[in-house]
Amino acid sequence: MFDINSLDRIIKETVKSVEKGKEQIYDIAENARVERDNLQKELERVQINTAKTIHEVDQLEKAEKTARYRLMEVSRNFSRYTEQDIKEAYDNAREYQVKLGLFRERESQLRQRRTEVELRLRKLLDTENKAEKLITNVGGALRLLTGNLQGITEKLEELQQRQNLGLQVIKAQEEERRRVARDIHDGPAQSMASVILRAEICERLLEKNPAQVPGELQALKEGVKSTLQDVRKIIFDLRPMVLDDLGLIPTLKRYFAEFQERTGLLVDLVTMGKDKRVSSAMEVAIFRVIQEAINNSYKHAQTETVNVRLEMKPEFVNCKITDEGVGFNVEEKLGPEAKGYGLIGMRERVELLEGTFKISSLPGKGTEIKLQIPIKE
Ligand SMILES: Nc1ncnc2c1ncn2[C@@H]1O[C@H](COP(=O)(O)OP(=O)(O)OP(=O)(O)O)[C@@H](O)[C@H]1O
Ligand SMILES: [Mg+2]
Repeated sequence: MFDINSLDRIIKETVKSVEKGKEQIYDIAENARVERDNLQKELERVQINTAKTIHEVDQLEKAEKTARYRLMEVSRNFSRYTEQDIKEAYDNAREYQVKLGLFRERESQLRQRRTEVELRLRKLLDTENKAEKLITNVGGALRLLTGNLQGITEKLEELQQRQNLGLQVIKAQEEERRRVARDIHDGPAQSMASVILRAEICERLLEKNPAQVPGELQALKEGVKSTLQDVRKIIFDLRPMVLDDLGLIPTLKRYFAEFQERTGLLVDLVTMGKDKRVSSAMEVAIFRVIQEAINNSYKHAQTETVNVRLEMKPEFVNCKITDEGVGFNVEEKLGPEAKGYGLIGMRERVELLEGTFKISSLPGKGTEIKLQIPIKE
């Protein structure tokens, strides 16, 4: 049989690893965001510095030009200037040239850095967007796993339970047939054998001792009568025909009277509401449930009385069967280890008619069986 538990485990583990993956993606997105913030700040700094450097380069270019002109001027008219002047002009021009070179270099570095940072920022934004999409996708997968697939394991479990129930129903039918066969074998079949024996005795007595024949015939008649009763009981148990003719409550009354006489267990019947006919399927189901319940009280409860309460409402039939006997552990007797078919059969009959069925019992506290079946026109 398919192992639902292993499917459940696989799904749970998959969910766990997908959840872990989601967390990791969150981490990636978060790191990208932090790095992007930092780079954004750096970009601002680089932009400011670049602007400042460009401005400085501008200024330096002007100053360098002036210095260059000055040098040209003093070099051309060196007779008018002292050696000192020339040297100063030369040094000055040289210094500006060096400075300008330095600042241009810095400007180009800053521009390069700006391009790099901008590129990196674009990549990070891309990563963040991808991570977000992934999170959405993973979220969808998770919903699928936790929602739909969990539904599937429930469905499978339901199917398996139904299959088990089907098997139990078949077993219950077999058990019922076995019981009927045993009833016929122990009762009518044996009585018939003794009827034949008695008839043969009568035959012989007719020749040897005719005076004894009436007595023997009387005994034979009694035997046939009791066999007929047995047969009637078996037929009644198989299918109470009065149920179709008279309806539920009269059949129950008749059955309880016979039951009480046979077993000594007192059945107290209380009916409420208008006695009306409901569907035959429903009447049989209620009759069977009550029959099994009082049989159980007789067989297992060790009590003197069982109470049956039947209420006919316009929309549904309520029924409660209680005894104050020894009680039992319901989970144990209704579980997969259950040996009897009575309780399972009761529940199955009621549920087939879309009714509700509840057994409450505790060891030492008695038993209560409650059912409600909706009336469908
Ligand atoms: N009214 C009750 N009082 C005490 N124990 C009960 C009562 N009804 C049921 N049980 C316990 O629950 C068990 C299961 O009942 P169930 O009717 O399913 O099987 P069963 O009566 O043993 O056999 P079957 O009905 O198939 O002939 C019984 O064997 C008994 O131990
Ligand atoms: Mg039983």
